[in-house]
Amino acid sequence: MKKLIIFYSFEGNTKLIAKNIAKTIDADILELKPEQEIKTKSFMKFFWGGKQAMMNEKPDLLPLDKNPDDYDIIFIGTPVWAWGPAPPLKTFFSTCNISNKRIALFCCHGGGKGKTIEKMKIALGENDFIGQIDFRDPLKRKTEENVKNAVEWAESVIRGQ
Ligand SMILES: Cc1cc2nc3c(=O)[nH]c(=O)nc-3n(C[C@H](O)[C@H](O)[C@H](O)COP(=O)(O)O)c2cc1C
Repeated sequence: MKKLIIFYSFEGNTKLIAKNIAKTIDADILELKPEQEIKTKSFMKFFWGGKQAMMNEKPDLLPLDKNPDDYDIIFIGTPVWAWGPAPPLKTFFSTCNISNKRIALFCCHGGGKGKTIEKMKIALGENDFIGQIDFRDPLKRKTEENVKNAVEWAESVIRGQ
């Protein structure tokens, strides 16, 4: 069973979870990177990032170095931006036709995840969804507990296959 973790992370929370899951289940990693990243981590990130998210923008991505088609099980992770997946995920969903895969979804948020997971399922269409979980700012709060939960969740998802 070949496994892949696909994620985008602006400030490292989703990356922390993605890396720990990958290590636990021995998966490859595909990190989505916009050609032009938002240039500020100050409060203005909410303005520029929020605008991208609210306008449903799909920023161009750097070339992908893994082909999801080569994998059986795919974990996909995103930060929540304006109660939905971050714009790089929207680009990915609209350009990469993933179908008939077993997919587990995760997101990181600041306390208001909205319908992010549901929106990802709709964007992904015809696939078998085998797990979902969310984490609240795991770099800033309860890091150890969040990582433990991520690892246990990933193991249980894989065990069920
Ligand atoms: C532009 C922008 C919009 C955000 N919108 C939300 C939101 O709607 N709900 C929420 O709970 N957190 C929101 N956040 C907070 C992030 O989802 C949260 O800090 C997450 O853990 C960041 O993940 P990352 O470090 O992988 O980028 C937003 C952050 C940014 C930069």
